[in-house]
Amino acid sequence: MAAAAGDNPETRPRSATMKKIMAVGQRGRVRIRDLKEKKARGEKIAMLTAYDAAFARLLDAAALDVLLVGDSLGMVVLGYETTIPVTLDDMLHHTKAVARVTRHALVVADMPFLTYQVSVPDAVRNAGRLIQEGGAAAVKIEGGRAVLDVVERLVSVGIPVMGHLGLLPQSVHQLSGFRKQAMTADAAERLMDDAVALDQAGVFAIVLESIPDEVAAAVTERVSAPTIGIGAGPGCDGQVLVCHDAFGLAGEYSPPFARRYAQLGELISAAAREYVEEVRSGAFAAHALK
Ligand code: KIV
Repeated sequence: MAAAAGDNPETRPRSATMKKIMAVGQRGRVRIRDLKEKKARGEKIAMLTAYDAAFARLLDAAALDVLLVGDSLGMVVLGYETTIPVTLDDMLHHTKAVARVTRHALVVADMPFLTYQVSVPDAVRNAGRLIQEGGAAAVKIEGGRAVLDVVERLVSVGIPVMGHLGLLPQSVHQLSGFRKQAMTADAAERLMDDAVALDQAGVFAIVLESIPDEVAAAVTERVSAPTIGIGAGPGCDGQVLVCHDAFGLAGEYSPPFARRYAQLGELISAAAREYVEEVRSGAFAAHALK
């Protein structure tokens, strides 16, 4: 609808949320270089997952550095028990929604199971779709030396890659469940070798999931890429949480390391109950007539 005469969109009063969104827009895009510079300055990197436009708008206004369209969407949005059933089409659908509205954060899309393990050409094609069609700026893949050829090829064709070590949810069956990793000296050494190999192959950051704090701190000190921890202690260069865990939307189960910053699940349940009562009593939509 055209603005009425005298209703100039430039001078119209704006809500606090709108002002914040505009301020974030003016801050410009987070780039990969910014993350490296943050590590060099000792500034922590803040990352959360997002799967749709509503959350992406809100989280982007909070000035996060990175929004990850994680394949955790399979568990917290699509109702699967693991991330394994998530497809490239699922990831494209959700990445597009997040990328469409994000103005500030770096948008990273997870490559789902079997989209990068079969062959390097397959991986390039699939990662390329997440960037070209999905609108992501980078992709994340799980694994260390086992996926090195893929990382090297993606980086060489201009697709930034975030690594992911420790608890690898796509390998949940091989790992016999979602359990803490790198618990022995040998396993910690293997993880360190994987991290160094990924760093040398050119990843721009490495997620460290569910490993002892001291192993994560040692990796963080050793590699040039920023490390982003989840259940890996305070020694990482940044932290990531699944937004449904962070805001109380994950239902009964949340991993032990997740911290709740809000209880949105309880708020939504109470609001839904109030709505049902008001519909049944006729209180809604009676007020709409006033
Ligand atoms: O899929 C995801 O949400 C992730 C985070 C746990 C890092 O990989």
